[in-house]
Amino acid sequence: MTLLDDEPARRSTATAAPTWLSPVSYWQPAHIVTSAWLEHAPFAFWLVDVLRPVRIVELGTHYGFSFFVFSEAARRLEIDLEIYALDTWQGDDHAGHYGDDVFQSVRDVVEREYAATSHLMRGLFEDSRPFILDDSVDLLHIDGRHGYDDVKQDFEQWVDTVRDGGIVLFHDVAEHDRDFGVWRLWGELSSRYPSFEFTHGHGLGVLAVGTVRARSLTELFNADEATTALIRSDYEQLGARIARQARLEAMPAEIESLHDRVSALTSELARARSETDRRDEILAEYVHSTSWRITRPLRAVGRYLGRGPR
Ligand SMILES: C[S@@+](CC[C@H](N)C(=O)[O-])C[C@H]1O[C@@H](n2cnc3c(N)ncnc32)[C@H](O)[C@@H]1O
Repeated sequence: MTLLDDEPARRSTATAAPTWLSPVSYWQPAHIVTSAWLEHAPFAFWLVDVLRPVRIVELGTHYGFSFFVFSEAARRLEIDLEIYALDTWQGDDHAGHYGDDVFQSVRDVVEREYAATSHLMRGLFEDSRPFILDDSVDLLHIDGRHGYDDVKQDFEQWVDTVRDGGIVLFHDVAEHDRDFGVWRLWGELSSRYPSFEFTHGHGLGVLAVGTVRARSLTELFNADEATTALIRSDYEQLGARIARQARLEAMPAEIESLHDRVSALTSELARARSETDRRDEILAEYVHSTSWRITRPLRAVGRYLGRGPR
């Protein structure tokens, strides 16, 4: 495995590889779409690798970034699993309201690449709840509306679907803006369950339900203060690479839209210039017209009185 330029220097002198990193933590997601979740892809790859889930449920998919990351991890790791993406695909007042093109774009990727493993369940989360059995989910990702009551309701309605040893992820646990309240619920839950909190990328809470089996997960949940800081720092750096990649991928479209803007402004300038030229022509015609010459004495009187045209 090649070490990254920005990887912490301590790695070169460390004797044992840290349990919270593996080669999959360095993967680059195949589908980078608009999302506030970009920086969590490296941890999600690692988590799917250690958890080896057979069923994942996601509450809140939007353009599909986190969902594609889980799906890609399963495919590359050759894990035979089912992934359910739940969303109205209409948006809300936090994510913003959007049109049907968003659902179509997610469906296109799923049909092209993940048709065998993925299920899109369009509607309110609560309406899909009866279709998912209790104790059947290994990984539940809660990323719907982010008010305290919303996320509490999502957790309470869905936690029973998680099997013993399963994981619940909460996005936005570090977001205190507007009426976000995941941090508050996280504060209540994280002391009652084995948990780990990432603070970058708006925060990602990792919560274990029941008995944790994978050793690397136990170590994550039992990390002391210094190790917690290292884990956070490693995944923050890895996440920043994905965010940089997203910015690079967005650049051609931005450059194209700047080109369009420059062409629009150039046409506007040409139009304004031709209007000015036309006005000058009209003025010149008028100055040389008979009526202008006839009224010359009147303008002379005006000048004498200190007003009027010359
Ligand atoms: C923050 S976005 C999800 C982001 C996504 N996980 C990502 O990786 O970028 C939240 C989504 O949850 C959906 N949503 C919110 N509340 C919902 C509910 N009660 N039922 C269904 N969908 C809901 C919204 O339509 C929105 O698309």
